[in-house]
Amino acid sequence: MLFTIITVLAVLGLSYRLTSLRFRAKSPAAGKKAAGYFPWLWSWMKSILKKETFQKGQSVVSGWIKNYYPGWTKWIFLALAASFVYQAASGLLFAIFSPRGMFGVPLLIHVSLGGLFAVSLAFALIWRARAYRLDRQEAAAFESWACPVFKNLSKSLVRKFLFWVFAVAGLCLMVTALGSMVPYFPFETQKAMIVVHRYCALVALLTGLIFLDIAILPQPQAK
Ligand code: HEM
Repeated sequence: MLFTIITVLAVLGLSYRLTSLRFRAKSPAAGKKAAGYFPWLWSWMKSILKKETFQKGQSVVSGWIKNYYPGWTKWIFLALAASFVYQAASGLLFAIFSPRGMFGVPLLIHVSLGGLFAVSLAFALIWRARAYRLDRQEAAAFESWACPVFKNLSKSLVRKFLFWVFAVAGLCLMVTALGSMVPYFPFETQKAMIVVHRYCALVALLTGLIFLDIAILPQPQAK
């Protein structure tokens, strides 16, 4: 029950934060007033369902993939994204709505795609790790921890931070999944590993959503 409450609040809270930042960026005149936010959010959600918005989104994402995963390496990103989307959806929906947890064909697909997730994450790390290395100045900012998290940190540093948090959460998902399936640990430990697996899934999902918002989707232009 606790995991369900934390997941719902975290996902709703983050969605509000990311969309309200976009609303304020689009209409600086609105300032901190939320007055126009909900009508804007409703029209924004309706626009997402439109064919043009879908096509625009597709061209933005394929442009981003062409830029950072050119040629055959695009399959690394596509495999990682597809396996992650299915695993996050299947895992979190079953964790929230199914009292007995995940089972049957959805679990079988979840575990099978686990292999694709593991391999594509490894390739993405080999392919992109260099681009997400901290430079001297950024390392100094981290060492200083002088500012509240994410407020004074550069977008480039936030992107790098998110990349490595996702990588560590992904690794933790693999270790806890495999650990819960091998017969070396007592049942209580296996159960604890599934709990850790769930929270790593939540961290990976929240990190993925912020990365999508600040690194892949176009940034809002003030009217
Ligand atoms: C290496 C890849 C992965 C493997 C092998 C794997 C395997 C598993 C297994 C076997 C379970 C069922 C545990 C049980 O109830 O006994 C499970 C549950 C779960 N997985 Fe994964 N998983 C992987 C990656 C992921 C990823 C990437 C996510 C999401 C981002 C995720 C989210 C979840 C969630 C939320 C549950 C809990 C579902 C429940 O409460 O029943 N998993 N996973």
